[in-house]
Amino acid sequence: MRSTRPPVLDDDPEALDAIWTALEPDPALVPPLIRAVMISSLDGTTTVDGRSGGLGTPTDRLVYTAMRARADLVLVGSGTALAEGYGPAETSPVWADRRPGPPPVVLVLTRTLPDALVEHCAGSGDRVRIAAAHGVDIDRVRAARDRGVTVHVLGPGPTGAAIRSLAAHLHADEVDLEGGPRLLGALLAEGAVDELVLSLAPEVIVGGEDSPLATGPATTRVPMRVAAAFSCPRGGLYTRWVVGGRRP
Ligand SMILES: NC(=O)c1ccc[n+]([C@@H]2O[C@H](COP(=O)([O-])OP(=O)(O)OC[C@H]3O[C@@H](n4cnc5c(N)ncnc54)[C@H](OP(=O)(O)O)[C@@H]3O)[C@@H](O)[C@H]2O)c1
Repeated sequence: MRSTRPPVLDDDPEALDAIWTALEPDPALVPPLIRAVMISSLDGTTTVDGRSGGLGTPTDRLVYTAMRARADLVLVGSGTALAEGYGPAETSPVWADRRPGPPPVVLVLTRTLPDALVEHCAGSGDRVRIAAAHGVDIDRVRAARDRGVTVHVLGPGPTGAAIRSLAAHLHADEVDLEGGPRLLGALLAEGAVDELVLSLAPEVIVGGEDSPLATGPATTRVPMRVAAAFSCPRGGLYTRWVVGGRRP
């Protein structure tokens, strides 16, 4: 009989090999690649108390750090960079032997180049840079550069193509797109994203601002445990979850 129990991977060496291999990009894709990572709860909520970290599990952390260890550039919207306090990327010691060289440069994408973003990036050296949309106010670019921030101004046309062109210019084969939802949505709609690495946190969030299961401002977190998962010829993923996360 075929099994529908998904494999459980922890952080032993064999599991780390399996996670690394699972995150290899599709060999048919042509670099520079834009590969998005995101986490959501089972109902599609993407933040708890305004940040995505509240949804994470240790395994999600392994996935997130592996994607960074693979990447040449980390790309993030200014909303996320400010909300999550982005700084220079570090290579996790777990993946250090698989990644030669320095960690990826973080690129923060903006249209308006707000003062708060310049303030945030100043002092991070060249490892946190800004990518500003074509047509950005050039005086703001000058002011940011005067503060020691590296600002790349994107070329005209669709954002995804402009980012790919910047990535090629920076000799970056793999761009790790870490969100947020607005930037991810815009790039998906443009057809500019090559892959999506999606973590499903083992819980349903009821209520709160972000949940589609809104019942009011108060939030109830309902833990879940995955019991079965399977795919189909059309590529869907089908799952069964035990409510409450109890073991049988
Ligand atoms: N669950 C997850 O996986 C996950 C991942 C990441 C973030 N988050 C959460 O999501 C929230 C923030 O996400 P968000 O969707 O509000 O914001 P976001 O996507 O991180 O950033 C939006 C900003 O990015 C810039 N931007 C977007 N499209 C652009 C384009 N085509 N060209 C140039 N700049 C562009 C604009 O910056 P300016 O306003 O500066 O012009 C825009 O306001 C935070 O709470 C964060 O914790 C969750």
